[in-house]
Amino acid sequence: MVTADQIDAAVAALRGGEAVAFPTETVYGLGADAANPAAVARVFRLKGRPQDHPLIVHIGELAQLRDWAAQVPPVAMQLAARFWPGPLTLILPKAARVNTVVTGGQDSIGIRIPAHPIAQRLLAAFGGGIAAPSANRYGRLSATRAAHVREEFGDAVPVVLDGGEATIGIESTIISCLGNVARLLRPGRITRSQVEREVGPLPEAEGAAPRASGDRQQHYAPATPVRLVAREDLLPLALRMVAAGDAVGVLAMYAAPAPVGRLTWIDAGVDPAAYAHQLYDQLRNLDRSCGRVILVEAPPASEDWGAVRDRLARASAAGDARLPP
Ligand code: TXA
Ligand code: MG
Repeated sequence: MVTADQIDAAVAALRGGEAVAFPTETVYGLGADAANPAAVARVFRLKGRPQDHPLIVHIGELAQLRDWAAQVPPVAMQLAARFWPGPLTLILPKAARVNTVVTGGQDSIGIRIPAHPIAQRLLAAFGGGIAAPSANRYGRLSATRAAHVREEFGDAVPVVLDGGEATIGIESTIISCLGNVARLLRPGRITRSQVEREVGPLPEAEGAAPRASGDRQQHYAPATPVRLVAREDLLPLALRMVAAGDAVGVLAMYAAPAPVGRLTWIDAGVDPAAYAHQLYDQLRNLDRSCGRVILVEAPPASEDWGAVRDRLARASAAGDARLPP
């Protein structure tokens, strides 16, 4: 439970230009007063994030949208009305007064009203916008528990509001609404079809727009190389590597056949929501226990697995170069 005193302390820290970590329904955020460029710059430094990589501004209610966006195209209003509060970030033209430190130098801005009760309490008590990227060091796995945030930042981020496990477990769906055309920049729990039901067909090129999380290939990655493997190859490859003396981790969608030496096998199940909920925690666990490689069973090609596939593709992007064929 987060007490009223803890919320007050977090608000005081935000007003003092400090960064605070807080839970949202997607992942934990590392927040700063979005109207204070020095505080926002501190978040970039803490994360080790390049300054041209924009942050999302979190707001508590729709009425605040006008403080951050120059215009709210009809398509954005439709999506906001349907999905906020919730795991959706909208890219809008930024208001003139918004400092470009937050937007990574761009004239657009990412905005979200989160649904998590602690995030909402914090936003209501603070009153302004909170700029918050995911609470992890740049390029690493997002944090879905307070303990992950402490793992990432230790004493550098003293205020961590502990809201337990983030329920969704992967980052928000990002939709650009610039020019009143909805474009999917990052898949999440809210799927392309759900968005299309509101606003009609989206252009194809998923994740192709500049400045989406996809513009850096390796993202959401553990230190241990990750390799995506077809279901039928998973067990034979794992056994071969263990026999060769490697410590191997497996994230599968079925149970291990039998315990084998230095093989850590996690059955993450076949439900996409439950899988996403535990994905980063499981990758962190495997990262700790497996020196050589994390083999991940390639998830199905269906739309309900789209967000998980996206994160796993990024996590594995740099891994193959370091692995035997
Ligand atoms: O679920 C989430 O979205 C979490 C929670 C804390 O809200 N936040 C999150 O933030 O994932 P971050 O910074 O890790 O990812 C935000 C993504 C970045 O990849 C960034 O490039 C994109 O949003 N973004 C932000 N502003 C943008 C803009 N103006 N145009 C295009 N992309 C933008
Ligand atoms: Mg992130």
